[in-house]
Amino acid sequence: MDFRLKPHIYFNSYMDSADEWRQALASQFDEFKFSVGDDVDDPDSVDVALVWTLPDRGLERFVNLRAILSLGAGINQLDLERLPKHVPLARLVDASLTRTMVDYAKTAVYRYHRRFHLFERQSRERNWTYIPPTLTAGTSVGVLGLGEIGREISFALRREGFNVRGWSRSPKELDNVETYTGRYGLTSMVGRCAIVINVLPLTGETRHILCRELFAHFSNGTCLINMGRGMHLVEADLLDAIDMGKVDDATLDVASVEPLPDSHPFWNHPNILITPHVAGASNPMTAVANVAANIRKALAGERLSQQLDVDRGY
Ligand SMILES: NC(=O)c1ccc[n+]([C@@H]2O[C@H](COP(=O)([O-])OP(=O)(O)OC[C@H]3O[C@@H](n4cnc5c(N)ncnc54)[C@H](OP(=O)(O)O)[C@@H]3O)[C@@H](O)[C@H]2O)c1
Repeated sequence: MDFRLKPHIYFNSYMDSADEWRQALASQFDEFKFSVGDDVDDPDSVDVALVWTLPDRGLERFVNLRAILSLGAGINQLDLERLPKHVPLARLVDASLTRTMVDYAKTAVYRYHRRFHLFERQSRERNWTYIPPTLTAGTSVGVLGLGEIGREISFALRREGFNVRGWSRSPKELDNVETYTGRYGLTSMVGRCAIVINVLPLTGETRHILCRELFAHFSNGTCLINMGRGMHLVEADLLDAIDMGKVDDATLDVASVEPLPDSHPFWNHPNILITPHVAGASNPMTAVANVAANIRKALAGERLSQQLDVDRGY
């Protein structure tokens, strides 16, 4: 087994702090080399790329690369076509990332459950209309995607007393969560929900899943929360669904083009809240143990944790 204790880690991100990651990795490895951006004097010796996006030059010059570790829970921000095909790719699992995603989901769900979105509209019109509060048990929330993040969102909402349903590719048994699979499962689930949250990975199968055909199965006045990726949503179809009353309001953390262009019709739309891709944030100190474990696996030639399954696409 080839198990060098001095990994050479290449780092590239405009979102994450290289200094924080260097410090975090120092808690895991007695010795390691850390190269950032274009500053790599011996590219042949790079073992692992820890990246949010690819550098302009790509990763080709790292001819002995053994693993690509995404700094995100998703991998779509990486230009997959430009990645060396023979090098395994893994996504990030981090307790802080999951926790911040759960908090975002709860905040957005409560905003709808307690009708703040309606009171925001009313207050802009100096309109004092009483809308009685209801108990969480009377609000049904559907979660698309029951992986690391969707599962925790479902449990957190259950703990708050919401009526929770969830949809995934493979069948799941989750305490007090009604689970669904398949196309029929999806359409019947969304019709039973007042709030639908998307936290799927972006794959060939899930691209544009939030579209006219799916909205047709929504109950009138459903609220949508998209925390997955912008390309899950057909943006023009959302505007139509709002006009038709199928969707009452949408909270969108992601957009097909980020930052959302100035001229985009979502800005200033009274039924749409935009947040600038802030739902989840990883923390090097909580994420580093999983990353270090994957670096050790890569050096030992073992399969990575959270390794991309190329056939599934996530
Ligand atoms: N907005 C943000 O700040 C932010 C931050 C972090 C992550 N995200 C997004 O959240 C996504 C999910 O992250 P995660 O860590 O929870 O991923 P994950 O653990 O891989 O879970 C993915 C879930 O989606 C399900 N799924 C995948 N393809 C499907 C399909 N075709 N039909 C039905 N279900 C399908 C999977 O089903 P199985 O359980 O059967 O495999 C699984 O339950 C990421 O890919 C990223 O896009 C966004």
